[in-house]
Amino acid sequence: MDLNGKAAIVTGSSSGIGAAVARQLSANGCQVTITYSRNEAGAQKTASECKALGGQPLVQRTDIAEDSDCRTLVDATLQRFGRLDILVNNAGTTKFCAHQDLNGLTKSDFLDIYAVNLIGAYQMTRAAEAALRSQPVAHIVNMASTAAITGVGSSIAYAASKGALVTMTLSLARVLGPQIRVNAICPGFVEGEWLKNGLGAELYDAIREQYAQHAPLKATATPETVAQAVLGIIGGADWTTGETLIVDGGAHLHTAPLRR
Ligand SMILES: NC(=O)c1ccc[n+]([C@@H]2O[C@H](COP(=O)([O-])OP(=O)(O)OC[C@H]3O[C@@H](n4cnc5c(N)ncnc54)[C@H](OP(=O)(O)O)[C@@H]3O)[C@@H](O)[C@H]2O)c1
Repeated sequence: MDLNGKAAIVTGSSSGIGAAVARQLSANGCQVTITYSRNEAGAQKTASECKALGGQPLVQRTDIAEDSDCRTLVDATLQRFGRLDILVNNAGTTKFCAHQDLNGLTKSDFLDIYAVNLIGAYQMTRAAEAALRSQPVAHIVNMASTAAITGVGSSIAYAASKGALVTMTLSLARVLGPQIRVNAICPGFVEGEWLKNGLGAELYDAIREQYAQHAPLKATATPETVAQAVLGIIGGADWTTGETLIVDGGAHLHTAPLRR
């Protein structure tokens, strides 16, 4: 895939899926702005990896819940690379809370999660619109989750926020053409710290095994396999917009819903 001369912002690329997307974009010749909110060391590590792959990344601290940060991030990217072709709205947050524990989630938990997972992606899209529209073909990829479709996941607030992100993908796709394609990716279980920290080692291993058993592809995703799907949309789906791609090895096809 030749992304030479193009520029991308990947929000939340200090670790996990976002870091893998930044690496794969760099490996294909795209210049990347890497963002972090707290994990500066992680962002610098991603930047070193992108440099080793031939990139010259920009690293920017950004809280996507803050509109002014989103605008500053786009301005800094344009100043550095002179253009913007790709926005990957990957940054996300959650609170792990068993779904049956309705008292475990407060109003402010919902608002905090929505502020990042939904409103953050909206604010980034709004800040990037003019720059993306100045390209004949531009892509926005929103990192949702199978939680959006099944309602399972780290908490009810998280699943609802990702459901809203999928719905927002439809609305934005309708209004941002003809230049900008807007699509969503829905990973299932992705190996890494997000779930290890949230679930604890024992539950992590148990759910991972359950997923691998039930999924037709008999394994769980890695940040790299999810990033491949993002690159697939960017590099090979110029005539697709408003679409949601499930990336879970087919685990959603299992007839009994997976639970935590
Ligand atoms: N892991 C899974 O199983 C899974 C499954 C489905 C979907 N997803 C989605 O995939 C995306 C990436 O998750 P991951 O698994 O790669 O976890 P991760 O490694 O914890 O990555 C989350 C990223 O989001 C950033 N972030 C959090 N709050 C932010 C804020 N307010 N402003 C800007 N950036 C913020 C983090 O930055 P700092 O660390 O620097 O604060 C980090 O770079 C998320 O949207 C998540 O919901 C994950």
